[in-house]
Amino acid sequence: MELWIDLARPDTEDGASLQSRIAGQLRALMLGGHLTSGSRLPATRELAQQLGVARVTVEAAYARLEAEGYLQRRVGAGSFVSPMATPLSPPLVQPCKTPPPLSTRGAAVLTTARRRDHPERLPFNAGCPDLRAFPHALWQRLLAQCVRRHGPALGDYGDPQGYLPLREAISDWLAQSRGVRCTPEQVVVLTSSQQAIQLAATLLLDPGDAAALEDPGYLGARAALSAAGARLQPIAVDAEGADPASLPVDLACRLIFLTPSHQFPLGHALSLPRRLAWLARARESGAWIIEDDYDGEYQYERNRLPALQSLDRDGRVIYVGTFSKTLMPSLRLAYMVLPGELAEQFTVARHGFDGHSAQLMQAVAAEFIQRGHFTSHLRQMRQLYRSRRDLLLECLGPFDDVVTPLASETGLQFAMRVPAELEAAVHAQATDAGLVLRRLSTLHLGEVHAPGWLMGFAALENQVIREATARLGTLLRRCG
Ligand SMILES: Cc1ncc(COP(=O)(O)O)c(C=O)c1O
Repeated sequence: MELWIDLARPDTEDGASLQSRIAGQLRALMLGGHLTSGSRLPATRELAQQLGVARVTVEAAYARLEAEGYLQRRVGAGSFVSPMATPLSPPLVQPCKTPPPLSTRGAAVLTTARRRDHPERLPFNAGCPDLRAFPHALWQRLLAQCVRRHGPALGDYGDPQGYLPLREAISDWLAQSRGVRCTPEQVVVLTSSQQAIQLAATLLLDPGDAAALEDPGYLGARAALSAAGARLQPIAVDAEGADPASLPVDLACRLIFLTPSHQFPLGHALSLPRRLAWLARARESGAWIIEDDYDGEYQYERNRLPALQSLDRDGRVIYVGTFSKTLMPSLRLAYMVLPGELAEQFTVARHGFDGHSAQLMQAVAAEFIQRGHFTSHLRQMRQLYRSRRDLLLECLGPFDDVVTPLASETGLQFAMRVPAELEAAVHAQATDAGLVLRRLSTLHLGEVHAPGWLMGFAALENQVIREATARLGTLLRRCG
């Protein structure tokens, strides 16, 4: 064990002998809880060598700590922290009582951002794929192969734009599955969709610029746009998705955030006339459209809709996708497809902010896609999730006097309308009943706050869906 002992530390008494300084710092490590009962200390010879002092000096420090009861020394075994050496409470270093003041930008971030505060797997938490159904053994094999074949190269700094074989796999995949028209040079691999939206907001918006986003909409986008100092302009949403007619005609918008395949949170797909209208608006006003295609791979009906980007002839759409829903959230891999010069500019900025994404996982993801495993995994997940969606809708049937599920053709969750009194009252009791009901009314930006919940189903086994819906039914009756 290498111990951090600094004999010249300013808090060590100048006049104190070397052995007192060593003993004092070891004592502080024990009282601070950093060297816990039973930990083995380095041999005196080893520590003396590390500190550049005589062995007798360390020997004297250990003997002193032993006499004070902090150390137990056993011949032939070594020196151990005694069970009597319990950390001081409160600890030596006191946490700051008042949080340090933040910048205006920092404070703006904290008004919209939040820390995840509930276990992901509780019913009906939204946005969760079923990780038990993921082919972990296959992933592990591919991982071992990648390490064997490219280990040292993958351990180095990587291309900030993303590992080339992964960018190739993504561009082929997006062309086949989502109709996206791109080359690997237009793809940038990132940690998350959130990082993509944040990069776009940082690079494309000046403080005070207007940015339009769906209302209700994705809080992550709202956080990124408001942190960039944008003036947020709500876009009304109905059964055809985001309505371009709800934006003032003369509003000069620099950026428009849309979820065309599966409006977050209400779930509708953007209709073709509206797709064309948004593209025309972007063309005429020079605005950028961010297309967040966060779960567009999970379309359960026969005629699957391609991405909005497939219709873009003017290079105004920035397409964003994530492996959080199609592979695993913990991978922290997402991608954006950028028109023209933007790909290079975003790559340089990304490099400036945080370098690049983990190379090894990019290599495994590339193999997974190129060998066809992604296609079959998604095919299986679509089947599994569709059946779970059907079961949840069926289980909610008996409560159709109070709950109204909305569009459920796509995604890992659907939205459900409930009367306003029930939205709040049931939500207040949901945690105790082991349920997560994300409130739709909290996702609004403008004046209207239409009530309802997001109902995640993809990660829930059939029995869990039945039991959880029964519990929800009890709450609905109790609060109704
Ligand atoms: C609309 C929307 N976009 C993006 C994401 C998240 O993707 P990532 O994990 O890549 O940031 C989510 C997650 O739930 C989402 O709901």
